[in-house]
Amino acid sequence: MKIAIINGPNLNLLGKRETDIYGNKPFETYMEELKALFPTVDFHYYQSNVEGELINEIQRLGYDYDGIVLNAAGYTHTSVAIGDAIAAIKTPVVEVHISNVHSREDFRKLSHVSGKSVGSIFGLGLRGYEFAVRWLMDRK
Ligand code: DQA
Repeated sequence: MKIAIINGPNLNLLGKRETDIYGNKPFETYMEELKALFPTVDFHYYQSNVEGELINEIQRLGYDYDGIVLNAAGYTHTSVAIGDAIAAIKTPVVEVHISNVHSREDFRKLSHVSGKSVGSIFGLGLRGYEFAVRWLMDRK
């Protein structure tokens, strides 16, 4: 089973970025834990700070992969084009946010990703990715 994790802008700084909100762990470290938790899954990890590159990757994987776990980060709240890309592909997308976007600033309550995704997880820390992967696996 092929599952892609796609992270948007500034998530390359996890572990040193606003650690009170996002924690101390770099995503690469967490990715190793995720692989150990799901040894049968063929994972692909992609991170970009560039909107168009994220869209290219969603399009590239979206007719082949069994699931995409997407944290579009700040673009969640601004990018109609990322929402359109999710709507265009066949692969189901699960939206994940590390923090509880609904308990923060009002602008984080708008998501262009949620309505195009099969479901959303927010506020459960990095474990949100694990729950998303588990759901995609159970779905098959
Ligand atoms: C985030 C929440 C977004 O509002 C923010 O812009 C991020 C990270 C999260 O995982 O909690 O960069 O997507």
